[in-house]
Amino acid sequence: MVERSNSRYQRTIITPKSMIFLFILILSVLSWFLIFSSTNPNRVLDYISVSEPTDALVNIIKNSNDPPQEKDAESPNPENREDENRGGVKTEEAINENRGETLRCIQKGSPSPAPLKVYMYDMSPEYHFGLLGWKPERNDVVWPDIRTNVPYHPGGLNLQHSVEYWLTLDLLYSELPEDSRTSRAAIRVKNSSEADVVFVPFFSSLSYNRFSKVTQKQTKSQDRVLQENVVKFVTGQKEWKMTGGKNHVILAHHPNSMSTARHKLYPAMFVVADFGRYSPRVANVDKDIVAPYKHLVPSYANDSSGFDGRPILLYFQGAIYRKAGGFVRHELYELLKEEKDVHFSFGSVRNHGITKAGEGMRSSKFCLNIAGDTPSSNRLFDAIASHCIPVIISDDIELPYEDVLNYNEFCLFVRSSDALKKGFLMGLVRSIGREEWNKMWRRLKEVERYFDLRFPAKDDDRDYGVQMIWKAVARKAPLVKMKVHRFQRFTRPFLMV
Ligand SMILES: *[C@@H]1O[C@H](CO)[C@@H](O)[C@H](O)[C@H]1NC(C)=O
Ligand SMILES: *[C@@H]1O[C@H](CO)[C@@H](O)[C@H](O)[C@H]1NC(C)=O
Repeated sequence: MVERSNSRYQRTIITPKSMIFLFILILSVLSWFLIFSSTNPNRVLDYISVSEPTDALVNIIKNSNDPPQEKDAESPNPENREDENRGGVKTEEAINENRGETLRCIQKGSPSPAPLKVYMYDMSPEYHFGLLGWKPERNDVVWPDIRTNVPYHPGGLNLQHSVEYWLTLDLLYSELPEDSRTSRAAIRVKNSSEADVVFVPFFSSLSYNRFSKVTQKQTKSQDRVLQENVVKFVTGQKEWKMTGGKNHVILAHHPNSMSTARHKLYPAMFVVADFGRYSPRVANVDKDIVAPYKHLVPSYANDSSGFDGRPILLYFQGAIYRKAGGFVRHELYELLKEEKDVHFSFGSVRNHGITKAGEGMRSSKFCLNIAGDTPSSNRLFDAIASHCIPVIISDDIELPYEDVLNYNEFCLFVRSSDALKKGFLMGLVRSIGREEWNKMWRRLKEVERYFDLRFPAKDDDRDYGVQMIWKAVARKAPLVKMKVHRFQRFTRPFLMV
């Protein structure tokens, strides 16, 4: 098909007559375009996708949202594919429109916008706090009474991906009279037809961390079973059927969590750490939310160190990875090992290693974040908590709330190819003087709270981590609404109920 139309096209452009015809055609299409895009850009895109698209236009649409198809992905809704293609280019516009307003609210401290309304499924505790060992007193109880008993998170390395825990606690808290916050970013609503988004309280990272090993008695892991049951439960709900799942918020922060369910639930918005282990169609930065890791080193309260109080110029401590992007670490090690005032060592940060890493970062001006087997790691957030200027060498990293936060104010980004040039990295960090460094350091101290995940929330929580994540979800809400409306064009859910 494609080949034939191409050759026809080539034949027609040979004669001058047809050149003129083509020129006029392009001109009229162009003017038509301008008229419509000035009134309603979405209309133009509708036309493009329903009429015969040219290859170039198809590419524009594809690049913006619907990257190469994934072989093993199955959609519970056959309509999704087409629908998402059409939604493509509008994504950015819908977000951009909302972005300005959110930015003003965050930065100027103007009155908060109305909180995001979140409907949360009352799923069995086995999907959430049960994974932490919490047991309800009665069978009909789903949630702990967090006024008297907040299920304890054991911490350790599992804490990195604990965003699921903090978001859920925040929702439970939002419906209590104790919540006196004037500026909370999200509230739980009990009526799903009033909700902006539907939250699926499955602690998928904890499920992966604790139950993904197949024991001798099992044919598949407990994590796998839970994922299958979540898919069955969620896709069976009327909230999913009416929206194609597009307004659902699903937690998948550990890069290996939801490994099978993601292929069934991808019309939803995922909360992820990065996109390293997803095909772009299942998860991408337009549709999904990047949330911070919880830092493992303690926050550096009352830090008055400054440029002169940090003797180490450049610090790196991390595991050795030989696969994927990890080779950069070894090459860098070879480049930097002879440099004085550089600390570069391999080693896991387990147990007391965390304390040591924290001390090291507090004594350093710059902290290296080199892609390991995934583009992101909690080391970045440890560096931020230690007010050590992050130097990010990870070409595919995606960062939380980058639509409202300019990381260049407090981070340095270096391409992997540049980092491996002899002298480049040291030249860069040595070129940053006391004044410039102190400016970035002060900015770090301002923004660190954006990444701090904690409970209970207080009124000054307006821009702490949990609130920032909800606000990031809220910025996608107009896009979600549009996708839902488009989904409903042909499913007519209102006639079904
Ligand atoms: C839920 O909200 C909708 C829309 O506001 C309303 O029509 C409906 O009656 C509500 N349902 C309940 C059970 O309150
Ligand atoms: C930081 O300073 C405040 C106010 O001076 C003080 O109350 C607090 O205990 C200090 N924190 C630490 C960890 O030193």
